[in-house]
Amino acid sequence: MKNVIYCFSGTGNSLRTARIIAARIGGAVIVSVKDGVTSGLAAKADVVGFVCPVYEWDVPEPMKEFAERLEVNPDAYVFMVATYVGVHGRCFETIDAILREKGTRLHYGKPLRCVASQCVAYEPFPSPKFMVPRSDRFARRIGDNIAKRRMNEYPKMSAITRNRYEKMMVPFLNVQHEYDKGFYTSEDCVGCGLCSKLCPRGNITIEDRHPVWNHKCIGCNSCVVYCPKKAIMFSTPEAYRKLNNIITRRLGLPESRTRYHNPHITAKDIMSRREAIVPKKR
Ligand SMILES: Cc1cc2nc3c(=O)[nH]c(=O)nc-3n(C[C@H](O)[C@H](O)[C@H](O)COP(=O)(O)O)c2cc1C
Repeated sequence: MKNVIYCFSGTGNSLRTARIIAARIGGAVIVSVKDGVTSGLAAKADVVGFVCPVYEWDVPEPMKEFAERLEVNPDAYVFMVATYVGVHGRCFETIDAILREKGTRLHYGKPLRCVASQCVAYEPFPSPKFMVPRSDRFARRIGDNIAKRRMNEYPKMSAITRNRYEKMMVPFLNVQHEYDKGFYTSEDCVGCGLCSKLCPRGNITIEDRHPVWNHKCIGCNSCVVYCPKKAIMFSTPEAYRKLNNIITRRLGLPESRTRYHNPHITAKDIMSRREAIVPKKR
């Protein structure tokens, strides 16, 4: 197959988007980006795509590290779709800069609004019932543009976000590795180990039939939202509490909070490393 899409997804929105685009562009291999995954496909592909969420106004760490390692066919058409809630920040600039180092560039970049899925910080919004079909509809439209090899000026980080990055994001990112100190399990944990298999960073080990987080967490929420017993809880770690800003004040996972994942994407889908999407015959 000549089309390859590299996808990182914690709660399924990006994987759902990648699947829709793959079907609209005549099929593609979707490679799930996580630690330890390598791929030689981009060196020979005609179309190379990156689909991932926006994290902290940028690209999630595993996607950035993966893109840096990747060999890309300089003649390929390259696109990126970033699923997000409201601030895409500099995610397209980050991937474009990496590609330019390799002698190519981003030809098409689009942010796609999806359900906000950071359930350790807030209830999912807007309502998934309304938002999931809407995101799917826009993903199909984006897929059709990619099929036509449309080119665009991808959206850049806004001046407002740029000015606030140092003050709002940098202190947060400086203590990012402390994030998983907030995780613990309720007595409903049965030690099934699914959380460990889901984690894209290999950050969770199972000890005495309970998960232990080893401080490489990027906050993707996979373990929380796909836990079959809803047994993973979150309290604000000390380093975050000290920041006392608009984000950290909201952190915490009361049992009553809804754990959203994209309804079309299962835990098995998130764990898969690679899949081939073949378009349906009309
Ligand atoms: C750790 C984390 C950081 C996030 N940062 C941002 C952000 O900076 N801007 C934004 O608009 N959305 C942000 N979001 C929301 C996600 O981008 C959005 O829910 C995305 O669709 C999730 O994709 P996924 O389901 O493929 O993991 C963040 C979510 C998480 C979990």
